[in-house]
Amino acid sequence: MSVQILPVASDAARSLLDWYDRNARVLPWRTPPGSARRPDPYGVWLSEIMLQQTTVAAVIPYYEKFLARWPTVRHLAAAPLEEVLHAWAGLGYYARARNLHACAQVVVRDHGGRFPESEAALLALPGIGAYTAAAIASIAFGQRAVVVDGNVERVVSRLFAMETPLPAARPQVRALADQLTPEARAGDYAQAMMDLGAGVCTPRSPSCGVCPLAAGCAARASGTPERWPLKSPKAEKPTRHGLVFWLEAEGQVLLRRRPPRGLLGGLPEIPSSAWSETPVGSGWHLFDQAPVEADWQVLPGGVRHTFTHFHLELRVAQGRLPRRVNPPEGFWHPVAAIEAAGLPTVMLKAARHALTPRLV
Ligand code: ADE
Repeated sequence: MSVQILPVASDAARSLLDWYDRNARVLPWRTPPGSARRPDPYGVWLSEIMLQQTTVAAVIPYYEKFLARWPTVRHLAAAPLEEVLHAWAGLGYYARARNLHACAQVVVRDHGGRFPESEAALLALPGIGAYTAAAIASIAFGQRAVVVDGNVERVVSRLFAMETPLPAARPQVRALADQLTPEARAGDYAQAMMDLGAGVCTPRSPSCGVCPLAAGCAARASGTPERWPLKSPKAEKPTRHGLVFWLEAEGQVLLRRRPPRGLLGGLPEIPSSAWSETPVGSGWHLFDQAPVEADWQVLPGGVRHTFTHFHLELRVAQGRLPRRVNPPEGFWHPVAAIEAAGLPTVMLKAARHALTPRLV
């Protein structure tokens, strides 16, 4: 199979690039298709890290904020980690922000402030895996690299109507993607695949009528292209439960910082009970985990958030003190400025729940 598809592969790359010349999305980290000018590697790297598991629409405002605040990798490397984490708040997967900062420091320290050009050297940097190294090498440096993300997996598995389900099919997808990848216009080709996956070869209802690869697509020929990619059933995510303690005094709320390592490491949070698989129920049995004694009232309802490995359901206990005591742990923060506290999304949801006016 691998030898036979080569002539077809070059047709597919040509059709895809022609389509991209007419349909490329205009995005702040890109140069126009066919442009002789390459985009700034720093911007390409920043965008690729932000775009991992995150949509283009969510990334754009963060990308612009980061570039305005830290216009070069040297600026970012010199910033305090806390400021970077704070600016990242709301984008999720915070290990990315920590690695972003570490990577900027390595690029300055070991590479004189310039990103290395080879895929292998990029792969050695913190936070840069196979996908990101290939994306940066091709988009920023014009090197032929095999870029495989979820979009490419979907497009390739449909083109060949692959019957092996993901993730077992990954090595085969990669080998086929390698054969499809042209020598020239590496960056445009990679981004054309991304745009095709995002706008045409979409998961649920692909628009085969406008697809530049439709003529050679086995999934389209089958009449049910949405059947691909086949996926092995995933283990179901567990749900954990917790009670957060929203304590107000003199217009301020008590927050604390999470331990530096692990989930949401180093970020501020509302003090919380441990998260366990037992539902919180009325919550009273968790009051011994509260940061201080208070007139705790558990609010109706709660919030739900999904992490990579589990769902979290939080209920909110509300308490009020006449004066700000010195808590055993944590710090006070103005309630009116809670949106700017740098809370991760799950905690912002809980804060908004605590602040939602309700009938008493
Ligand atoms: N997703 C990941 N990288 C991207 C890029 N460069 N353009 C659009 N979507 C992407």
